[in-house]
Amino acid sequence: MSWKPPTTRERGTSGRVPGALYGSLLLEQPKHRATVDAFHAFIDAPGPVALEVGMDNATVLIDHAHTFPDTRWVGLEIRRRKVERAKSAAPENAYLWAMDARTVFATVLPPARLSQVDIWFPTPTENGNHVLFGPAFVADVARALAPGGVLTISTDVYGLWMFIEGLLTDWQPTAAPPRGDARSRRERVCRRQELPVYGGSFTPRA
Ligand SMILES: C[S@@+](CC[C@H](N)C(=O)[O-])C[C@H]1O[C@@H](n2cnc3c(N)ncnc32)[C@H](O)[C@@H]1O
Repeated sequence: MSWKPPTTRERGTSGRVPGALYGSLLLEQPKHRATVDAFHAFIDAPGPVALEVGMDNATVLIDHAHTFPDTRWVGLEIRRRKVERAKSAAPENAYLWAMDARTVFATVLPPARLSQVDIWFPTPTENGNHVLFGPAFVADVARALAPGGVLTISTDVYGLWMFIEGLLTDWQPTAAPPRGDARSRRERVCRRQELPVYGGSFTPRA
């Protein structure tokens, strides 16, 4: 699949994330206070916190939560129904949230809390409002990672990988964190169809 970055709007000084689902000020609304508090209580508990963006039906996230029980696993996915369906299978060290990752990173994640961010096969959207990766998102991820924290990305869309790699000039390649046995839906498709997969694991340069 060929992909070229669509036109996106830059994030202004207001801190709003252009195109974020329901607007990135969503979580400042009083009706979301309890949800944000619950999220903070989850990530404030002792131990490492890892986060997966676009977890789909949470197969990988839930497998990771079982395989690495000392880590607290956050899964973000904009498709609410998928999240609701997956919740019943999630162990206590997994927090599944139907929320735009751009909003979570920009507005509620404290600095230096995450040990790991996994993004398996980000959507190769042609709608500029829906593009996940951009300079501001990458800066937010860098801020949210603890020293030595690792961002792992994979995609079978070469143009998307070229675009993402171009945003990671202040990052250096590093070893991939250990994984469980589960593979994501797209990853399984790529294996079956023997599609090339691009990506890697990176940490911000000190
Ligand atoms: C191409 S699918 C890949 C799903 C899964 N990770 C896999 O490897 O099969 C991308 C996923 O990211 C989700 N997504 C897209 N933009 C998102 C965002 N801003 N925040 C959270 N999830 C997002 C989509 O709903 C979709 O489930």
